[in-house]
Amino acid sequence: CGIVGYIGHRQAQDVLINGLSKLEYRGYDSAGIAIYDSGSIHLQKSVGRLATLEERVKGDLVLVGSQGIGHTRWATHGRPSDDNAHPHTDEAGRFVVVHNGIIENYLELREELIAKGHVFQSETDTEVVVHLIEELYQGDLFKTVVQVLKRIHGAFALAIMAQDEPGKLIAVRKQSPLIIGLGEGENFIASDIPAILEYTRKTYIMDDGELAVITADGVECFTFEGNPTVKEVFNVTWDAAAAEKGGYEHFMLKEIYEQPKAIRDTLTGRISEDGQRVILKELDWTPEQAGSIDRIHIVACGTSWHAGLVGKTVIEKLTRIPVDVEIASEYRYRDPIVTENTLVVVISQSGETLDTLTALRESKQRGLRVLAITNVLGSSVNREADNTIITMAGPEIAVASTKAYTTQVIALYLFACYMAQLRGSVGAPQVPEILTALKGLPELAEKVLQTAPAIEGFARRYADKEDAFFIGRGLDYAVSLEGSLKLKEISYIHAEAYAAGELKHGTLALITEGVPVIALVTQDDLYEKTVSNIVEVKARDAYVLALTWQGDTNIRKTADEVITIPRTLPFLAPVLAVIPLQLLAYYASVARGNDVDKPRNLAKSVTVE
Ligand code: G6P
Repeated sequence: CGIVGYIGHRQAQDVLINGLSKLEYRGYDSAGIAIYDSGSIHLQKSVGRLATLEERVKGDLVLVGSQGIGHTRWATHGRPSDDNAHPHTDEAGRFVVVHNGIIENYLELREELIAKGHVFQSETDTEVVVHLIEELYQGDLFKTVVQVLKRIHGAFALAIMAQDEPGKLIAVRKQSPLIIGLGEGENFIASDIPAILEYTRKTYIMDDGELAVITADGVECFTFEGNPTVKEVFNVTWDAAAAEKGGYEHFMLKEIYEQPKAIRDTLTGRISEDGQRVILKELDWTPEQAGSIDRIHIVACGTSWHAGLVGKTVIEKLTRIPVDVEIASEYRYRDPIVTENTLVVVISQSGETLDTLTALRESKQRGLRVLAITNVLGSSVNREADNTIITMAGPEIAVASTKAYTTQVIALYLFACYMAQLRGSVGAPQVPEILTALKGLPELAEKVLQTAPAIEGFARRYADKEDAFFIGRGLDYAVSLEGSLKLKEISYIHAEAYAAGELKHGTLALITEGVPVIALVTQDDLYEKTVSNIVEVKARDAYVLALTWQGDTNIRKTADEVITIPRTLPFLAPVLAVIPLQLLAYYASVARGNDVDKPRNLAKSVTVE
C-alpha cells in the first residue's frame, strides 16, 4: 500500500492525488483521501484505480483544505471495496488513519472495542487503530498514539489526523517504510520517495520504532516511548523514474531483493507462537474435512505452475496424498479423473489468468472444493474459490515473476504442514522442525542475494550464448524449470531444463564445447547421482556452473564455477536456490540490452485463452 500526507499552503487534494499516482505501483485496488477544512475532516474513497477517485473529487466533490492524508491500497485483510478503502475513521469522524502493513492482533482488539460499543464499518485490520485512538483520546493526540502503540502488534506505517488538533499530522513507522519530506512552510509524509520528489528532495527517513509530529513549520521525531530522537536530513539524488524503483535499475531487480520481506510477510501470523503448529485461519478446516481429501490437483500456468511442482513433492512427502500438477490450459481439455473428495488447488499470482480461472470454474461445476493461492485479494480466483491463501508478496510489476513464486512456494509449505498436522499424517512429526527452518529463510535469502556480483560476472561472460541447460533431480528439477523459464522470458536465450538423469536419453546430444550448463545439487540424497551427470556433460566440454550448499568443496573438482546457498533443510532449498537463477536471468537480460521489465511478446496477466 502507499501512504501520502501533506500539511502546508497548497491544496492538499492536489498534492495527495499527485503523490498517490506515484505510488500506484505499491497497490492499486482502492484509494482514498481525507482533508481537514474549517473544523471538520472530509473523506472521499473509492474502490478501483486512483483514476476513479480522481473522477469523484473533480467538480462538485472537490475537497478544499491544506492538510490531509491519502492512501492507495493493496488489500490484505478485507477485499477491495469502498468501505475497506482507507482512510478509516471513527463513527463521529473525529480521527482518520491510513495504514500500510498488518496489525497482527486486530481480531482481539476488534472484539474488545466492539464490546465497548464501537461500531466497525470495514473488515480491515486498520480500523482497530482509529477506534483505539477514539477510545483512549483525552485531548492529546500524540500521547494517545504513544498509548495505542503499546497495544498494537505487527508491521505498520501510519499517518493520523484529528479534527480537534488542526495543523498537525502524526506519522508512525514499524517495519513498513515511511519517509518525511521537508519543505518550506510545508511538510510531507510518504511511504516512498517518488510521492514527494516533485516538491522536495530533503527528507527524513523514519527509523523502525519511530513516530513523528508534523506541522507546516516543523517535524519532531520520537521513540515509541515518546523520547525525542535526532534526525539527519537525507538528500535524494535519484531521478523520478529511479525513485519509483527504489533506486534499483528495474522493477525485477527490486522485486528479487524484496524476497526476504515477502517471505517473512507470507509467514507472519501463520505459525503459532511456540513454533509448533501452522495456523491458517483462512482455511479453518476440521480434521474430518482435511482427512477426507483423497487426491489433489494443482492447476496453474507459467511460474505458478512451477511453484505447483514444488508443492507436489512437498505435499506428497508430508501427507502421502497423491498430487497431480497440471497446466491449466491442458487440464481443461483433458477430462481429468476426479473423485468427489478431490481438492483442486489453483495457483495464480494475479488471480485473473483466464486458463486458471476457467479450470477453477469447471472444477466448481464438478462440485469440487477449490483452494486458491493468489497474491491478489479480491481477484476473480480469490472470489470464486472456496478458500484462499493469500501470498503477501505485494504488487509485482515486472512481467517475469520472482517474489510471487517464492511466496507461492512458502504458501505450499504452510499448506502441506497444515494438512499433515490436521490429518496426523506421516510427516506431522517433522512439522515443527520445518517451521523453525521456514522462519530462518528470510535471513538466509538475504545472504543468497550477496551472490549477485558473482552471478553478474557469469551472466556477462555467457550473455552471447544462444543456448543454456539447467539440470537437477527431485526438487532441484522443479527449480531448474523455473530457472530456465526466467532465462528464456527476459534474456531470450534458448534454455532447457532437464531432469539430470534423463539427459542421456536425448538432450546430451546438444551438449558441445562451451555450452553453459547450470547444475543444481541441493538434494543431499541425490547428490552423487547429479554429480555423475555433471561429469557426463563435462566429458562433452560443457561449461558447468554448479549451485550447491555452502561448505561443499567436493563439487569444485567437477564444476567450472560454483555458487553456494547457506544451509537449510534440503526440503526448503527451492526458496533459496531459485534466487541465483532469477539473478542470472536478470543480468543476462541486462547484458543483452533487453527491456527487462517488459519482455517482448509477454504480458503480466494473460486474460485470453
Ligand atoms: C503470465 C506471466 C507469467 C505468469 C503466468 C501465470 O504468462 O507472464 O509470469 O507466471 O502468466 O500468471 P498468474 O498470475 O496466474 O500466476
